[in-house]
Amino acid sequence: MERTLVLVKPDAVEKGYTGAILARLEATGAKLVGAKMLKIPKALAEKHYEAHKAKPFFGSVVGFITSGPVVAAVFEGTDVVTKVRKAMGATNPANAEPGTIRKDFAESIEKNAVHGSDSPESAKVEVALYFKPEEIVSYQLRS
Ligand code: TYD
Repeated sequence: MERTLVLVKPDAVEKGYTGAILARLEATGAKLVGAKMLKIPKALAEKHYEAHKAKPFFGSVVGFITSGPVVAAVFEGTDVVTKVRKAMGATNPANAEPGTIRKDFAESIEKNAVHGSDSPESAKVEVALYFKPEEIVSYQLRS
């Protein structure tokens, strides 16, 4: 079963959008199987954004993601990586489609409300960065 890592980022947590964002993701049919609030340590943020190490925005995005609390969540389901990415919308909220999380809740390309893993492979790595196996709970989703 496919899983993905979601972070409700500090901008959205601080504006009280956490519940609304998680509700949009649940509405895709994805199953919430892990959740916690934390302040991301700098070393973890640098690992998370390792692929962007050489980019000009690396220092800034690490500074932002460690600036306040995030809610980390694991969602599970068929094609969940793609479903969550669709619900999130484009990285830059200015380019995000109407009805997407970033269109409705993000304020800038950096303060863009939500993270979702970009492939099943990176999801495996990212879920393991934030969650111990025993912090992910299996159950049946009832309709
Ligand atoms: P990226 O992986 O390209 O986007 P996404 O989060 O949609 O998968 O970039 C990671 C984060 O880096 C992005 O959510 C916000 C930040 N970022 C910037 O601050 N400036 C930029 O120009 C880009 C491309 C990303």
